[in-house]
Amino acid sequence: MSYAGGKAILLGEHSVVYGHPALAMSLDRGVHAAAKSAPTSLLSVAPWNAEIVPDDRDTALPLQRAFAKVLATYAEVPRVHVEAQVQIPAGSGLGCSAALGVAVLKAIDEFVGLNAASTATVIERSLVWERVFHGNPSGIDSTLAVSPGLCMFRRGEALTPVRARKPLRLVVGDSGEPSATRGMVEEVARQHARNPARIEKLFEGIAALVTNAKMSIEQGDLKDLGKLMDLNHALLNALMLSTARLEEMCAAARHAGALGAKLTGAGGGGCMIALVEDDEIASRVESELRALSCTSFRVQSHLS
Ligand code: MEV
Repeated sequence: MSYAGGKAILLGEHSVVYGHPALAMSLDRGVHAAAKSAPTSLLSVAPWNAEIVPDDRDTALPLQRAFAKVLATYAEVPRVHVEAQVQIPAGSGLGCSAALGVAVLKAIDEFVGLNAASTATVIERSLVWERVFHGNPSGIDSTLAVSPGLCMFRRGEALTPVRARKPLRLVVGDSGEPSATRGMVEEVARQHARNPARIEKLFEGIAALVTNAKMSIEQGDLKDLGKLMDLNHALLNALMLSTARLEEMCAAARHAGALGAKLTGAGGGGCMIALVEDDEIASRVESELRALSCTSFRVQSHLS
């Protein structure tokens, strides 16, 4: 049985695609998968009731193409039935597609006896899956799915683990609106092509927030971290990545006592995160989100 985890980006989504740094944290939920011999290859995904036959043609479904591309990374294409169990919402900015891709790949590696594959190789091979869904992924989702923790990520570089002086507690709220990473990344690319100087300035602003947030985490200054998250959200909003619902959710979380709140992942829907100091504030934030008919869950970083 293989496992790959979801992630929440604390700061730095989108600018990370252009080589700027981002801070992210693994979730304690993700995707489990197991592979067994089969006459023809099949991927079953629960709880979606999806039965996916690999197919690399342009007309096939993204999951079919992604599965075909992963199978094609093996010298001898295996015939396998992979059964996956997904624990995170899809299309919500929590890295579901990357976690599914990595879990499927690791399950097939286990099945064919490829147990010594290095972390870098697993990430590189799993990106063939992720590119089907996201076009131009920075690799942050796949990297966190393979190497869990709290870390600083920069495209093309090894992860830098971040040592938190105090554990980070987040409430993750789901807007229920779908977030299409590919579309949102393309939207930012359009803005970048129209006005590169303006968008680069915004990215540099986000990069400065990320660097400061890393120091706040290392020093245990959660109040500062919360403010930096709020500022990052404002810059993402300036890139037109927020929605009325995400704005409402972030405002409600701050009103309930969260130290900071922002959208997480690609935006345009999906999830937001709220940084909270303790369980009491977490409960208040969750009850405000419930009043907005949004589901939520809590996640905490471990002290490294
Ligand atoms: C998606 O989780 C985060 C984005 O920055 C895209 C990427 O890094 O590939 C929006």
